[in-house]
Amino acid sequence: MPLDMILGAQWGDEGKGRITDLLAIEADITARFSGGDNAGHTITVGSQIYKLHLIPSGVIHPHTICILGNGMVINPERLIVELEDLEKLGVDISPERIKISRAAHILTPAHIALDVAQETRRGGEKIGTTKRGIGPAYMDKTARRGIRAGAMENPESFADLIKQHITDTNHFLEQIYDQPPLDAEEIGSLFYEIAVRLKPYLADTGSMIANALSEGKNVLAEGAQGTLLDIDHGSYPYVTSSSPTAPGALLGLGIGPTHLRRIIGVTKAFQTRVGEGPFPTELSGLVGDQLRGTGENPWDEFGTTTGRPRRCGWLDLVLLRYAARVNGFTELVITKLDILSGISPLRICTAYSSSGISSSILADTPDAVEDYTPEYTGLPGWEQDITSVREADLLPAGAQDYIKLIETETNLPVRMVSVGPERDALVHR
Ligand code: IMP
Repeated sequence: MPLDMILGAQWGDEGKGRITDLLAIEADITARFSGGDNAGHTITVGSQIYKLHLIPSGVIHPHTICILGNGMVINPERLIVELEDLEKLGVDISPERIKISRAAHILTPAHIALDVAQETRRGGEKIGTTKRGIGPAYMDKTARRGIRAGAMENPESFADLIKQHITDTNHFLEQIYDQPPLDAEEIGSLFYEIAVRLKPYLADTGSMIANALSEGKNVLAEGAQGTLLDIDHGSYPYVTSSSPTAPGALLGLGIGPTHLRRIIGVTKAFQTRVGEGPFPTELSGLVGDQLRGTGENPWDEFGTTTGRPRRCGWLDLVLLRYAARVNGFTELVITKLDILSGISPLRICTAYSSSGISSSILADTPDAVEDYTPEYTGLPGWEQDITSVREADLLPAGAQDYIKLIETETNLPVRMVSVGPERDALVHR
């Protein structure tokens, strides 16, 4: 009867998708609960690369039911493309196994146009959004004028709602942002077709999950983005518009905490961030470039959704402790440890100092971190390539010390470490 959660402990892109892919082996249901197609989860199986934006990563395992929960904002055009791409790869995408919450919100071309217009208007103050319409879609949700997926039950009235929404948004686009209007009729007709196509996928996903849990089944909640992008607990305003944290998972799936078992925080062995906002341990120069990679490989630090180069830096344990607090992590998973091979010395931020006072706990919200100076602990690192290591004891001493320092400093066990891009390149501890 357990509910397990896989959550990003940083600014997203921690490699949650592959951990979900692994744990989904034992899951009956995998579920996304927040965000939309701003997320990008890459799973490598042999020479096959699956890129997912909306559908939970568990979809690769034919026995799982995959849920798009009520906390999501869903671009249905993108969803259809993703379903079709998966089908071409031989994945079962039937409505028997993929379920869309009737209470999830629909994201439209008007939300995307507004996101782009708002970012352009912000100029130098921009957030660096993925321009997928996420913020405006959640704005409509909280303003109580959003359109929910359940409206697709009736494609005719759904199309009317969409037309009205486009007409209303055109007012903002033209009058406030000086942008051309969108064609309400054309988009209405397109969304009529979309509703016909997606209607069979609609479900009351909250009660599906509750029933599964009471029948003793395993449910896996797959986070998108990361704790430091949370609308309440992230580095506001440089955040996304949803709650990718443990409390957000309950809210975004429609269940209480009773069945919660593992709350797994996924962190890279170093820190990355895409988009604007504070980043105390950010590195420029050679080490930053080495962490980022060239962009030739799918696992290099370039956005899965936008292709933007990610900012890279040393691992920040002050922020990791903060993420552990916000989510109540029971354990950690470290990804991309192999990328640190050959970098010497390594550094980990273990405290922040301000006005001569040192603190290992974030005394403020993460938007204030720019006022602090990171304090580092140095480690010698290791030279060897570790991509073929599969047993914890066989990792070089330098790598073992790196992991132990994270465990000691966070007071959390590290249960798994990824040492390469391949699906099986994992060390269990
Ligand atoms: P939005 O979610 O597109 O509104 O973007 C808001 C902020 O969150 C920007 O800094 C984005 O770069 C960041 N962001 C959104 N989704 C992801 C993600 O999946 N990985 C990493 N950063 C993300």
